[in-house]
Amino acid sequence: MSNSEVYRYPRYYAIGYQWNTQQECQFIQSCLTAYGPAQAKRLLDIGCGSGRHLQWLAMQGYPMTGVDLSSEMVAFVQEQASQNHLSIAVSIDDLRELSIQGTFDAAYCFMDTFRFLLTNEEVLKHLRKVAELLVPGGLYLTDFWIPSQWDQIASEIHQWEQTSGSTLVRVFYVQHPESVDPVAQTFEDELVFEIEEAGQTKQIRGGRTRTRLFMPQEFRLLVEHSGVFDCVSTHGEFDLSKPFDSFYHSWRMITVLKKR
Ligand SMILES: C[S@@+](CC[C@H](N)C(=O)[O-])C[C@H]1O[C@@H](n2cnc3c(N)ncnc32)[C@H](O)[C@@H]1O
Repeated sequence: MSNSEVYRYPRYYAIGYQWNTQQECQFIQSCLTAYGPAQAKRLLDIGCGSGRHLQWLAMQGYPMTGVDLSSEMVAFVQEQASQNHLSIAVSIDDLRELSIQGTFDAAYCFMDTFRFLLTNEEVLKHLRKVAELLVPGGLYLTDFWIPSQWDQIASEIHQWEQTSGSTLVRVFYVQHPESVDPVAQTFEDELVFEIEEAGQTKQIRGGRTRTRLFMPQEFRLLVEHSGVFDCVSTHGEFDLSKPFDSFYHSWRMITVLKKR
């Protein structure tokens, strides 16, 4: 599987994706309080990217561990952690074949990273491996796109921009409907970054990446079939009071799983 080219540019990723970091981290904290094991502290970020959650939570005193496929992302997180004297251990790893060792109170996999698990077998293997890394009653939080309207499956386009200092990052997310494999429930999507910096504009095209479409009931069944987690709740936003439902036209599903 090829990783998107944009993940080789963690500094731009960190700017482009900064918008909701605090709310997402506070959601993790709320889940730990509401459902987590007592005194939960040790957290694992699967597909940590530029480490926006790792840094925020490390600043609150959590000892953090992260893994990501991109060596550039891992190097960036290490550099930021050492510059800011934060307790963050990070390494290269593949969520399809996790090799990390350790014991954690909770893990999370945010912003569509879970959709890189393309087959049911990969999902089940992943869930069972994550469960092995957790204490009994430990939490696993997932977050991925769900089509809010069925006629938009694999044909959504989103665009947003974020600024830090004098750098502006415009992010384009595009799904390619003609790439749909209706049997495997996969399709190709792509990220493009447009960067305005030092009076110049440049573009980084991520290239197409194949990702999985999960439907809510199917995901619930996969979790049940794994035999290692119970599904505690699903949310349409990073807010425990906002359920995943059609009222909010939820476009993402955040699921709280608890190890049996
Ligand atoms: C959309 S980013 C999400 C990053 C972070 N979770 C966040 O919320 O900002 C997806 C991340 O998954 C990583 N990734 C892609 N395939 C992966 C794999 N097979 N195993 C681990 N990480 C992977 C990418 O390098 C990238 O950093």
